[in-house]
Amino acid sequence: MTSRYRVEYALKTHRRDEFIEWIKGLLVVPFVLHAGPTVNEMKTVEISRARYAEIFRDVEQLIRDKSLPHLSRLRSLVPSIGTFFTELPLERAFLEQDPKRAISARRLVSPSFNDIRLILNTAQAMALADGEHPLKLVTFDGDVTLYDDGMSLLKDDPVVARLIKLLSRNLYVGIVTAAGYPDKSGANYIVRLKGLVDAIQESTDLTSDQKNNVYVMGGESNYLFRLKGSEAELEWISPRDWTISEVTKWQESDMCELLDTAQSVLSHSRAHMNLQSSTLIVRKERGVGLVPREGHVICREVLEEVVLTAQRRLEATAVAGRVSFSAFNGGHDVWVDIGDKRLGVLSLRRYLGAIEGDQALHVGDQFASVGANDFKARMAACTVWIASPKETVDIMDELVEYLG
Ligand code: IMP
Ligand code: MG
Repeated sequence: MTSRYRVEYALKTHRRDEFIEWIKGLLVVPFVLHAGPTVNEMKTVEISRARYAEIFRDVEQLIRDKSLPHLSRLRSLVPSIGTFFTELPLERAFLEQDPKRAISARRLVSPSFNDIRLILNTAQAMALADGEHPLKLVTFDGDVTLYDDGMSLLKDDPVVARLIKLLSRNLYVGIVTAAGYPDKSGANYIVRLKGLVDAIQESTDLTSDQKNNVYVMGGESNYLFRLKGSEAELEWISPRDWTISEVTKWQESDMCELLDTAQSVLSHSRAHMNLQSSTLIVRKERGVGLVPREGHVICREVLEEVVLTAQRRLEATAVAGRVSFSAFNGGHDVWVDIGDKRLGVLSLRRYLGAIEGDQALHVGDQFASVGANDFKARMAACTVWIASPKETVDIMDELVEYLG
C-alpha cells in the first residue's frame, strides 16, 4: 500500500516533470472511460489503444508546431517545456511500448509516469535514427546510468558491448559525469571505466580511429580527456582547446566565492541537521560536497532538504549570475559543482566539430528540475531519461535497432 507520505512526497514540484504529468493527465481520461468491467475484453483493449494512440498523435503534432516559441500552443499548455531538437514520433513509440508494458490491456492501473518516460525515450531514439542529420555523439552520465551508484564499469557489464557497438558505427561516445578529478593523468576516471577501457584495447572489431573516439568530461564541464584506446590511457586536453566563450569569461575569484558560499551553506545544514558525526565536507578545485562517512547513510529527505537549501541560497547570490553551478542530490551525497552538463555536452559538441543538437544524445538518470544534474543537458542535446544501467542497455539496443 502506498503511504500517504509517499504520495505527497511524489507530488512535490521538484520531483515532477510537468510535460510527463500533463501527458498523464490526458491519458487518464480514456483510462477512466474504459476502466469498468467489460464484456468484450479484446474490444476494450482495442478501443483503449486507439484512444491512447490518438492522444500521442496529437501531442506529436503539437511538438511539430514550428511557430515562434512564445506563440507555441504547447508552451501555453506546458509553460516549463524546453526546446525539442527533433520531432518525436510518439504514436509509433507508444505502439512499440504498448505490448511490452500492457498499457492498453490494463484496467486497474492507469498509464504511469514510467510508461510515458519510456515512450518518450523510444520516440527520441526513433527520431535520432530517422533524423535529417546523422547522429554523431552519444554522451552518458556515470553513476546509475553506466554503472550502479558508486560502482565501476566491468568488462562483462552488458553496457560495455553496447558502447563498443556505438563506436563501431563511427559514433563518438562521451562520459559526462559530475565526478571531478583535476589530476591530468585521468587515473581516477580509468578506475571507474576500467571494463570499457580494457574491452576497447582488446577489441579486434574496432579500428584504431574508432578506439580513440571516447571522451570523458569530468566535473560536469571542467575536465576533458580523450581515451587513447590502444594504450588504455586517458589523454588530458587543455581547456584552451575546448572551453567555450561563455565559460572563458568566468573569473577565478567568482568561482571561489561561489564554492565558499556553497561550503558555508552545506556546513550550516550539516550542523543544523545533526550530521556532524555521520558526514564530511569535501572541498575540491571545482566542487564541494556533503558526503557520508564510511558506514553511514544520509536519508533521502535530508539529502533533498540540503540540496534544495543550497540551490535556493546560491540562486540568491550575485555571483550565481556570473558563474553557472550545479547543486544536486547524488543519491548518497549532495554536491555543488562549478559548471553544468549543458556546458559539458555543448563543449564536446563544439570540440568534436560543429555537431548540432539534433545529432547528439545524452543518456542520464537525473532529470528532475531541481536537485538533479542531467537536467541541464536537455538544453544542449536530445536526451533519454533512464532509471538504471539496465534501462541504458535497453534504450541502446533500441537505438541500434532503429539505426539499422
Ligand atoms: P554522475 O552520476 O556520473 O554525474 O556522478 C555523480 C556522483 O559522483 C556523485 O553522486 C558523487 O558521489 C560523485 N562525485 C565524486 N566527485 C564529485 C565531484 O567533484 N562533484 C560531484 N560529484 C562527485
Ligand atoms: Mg547519475
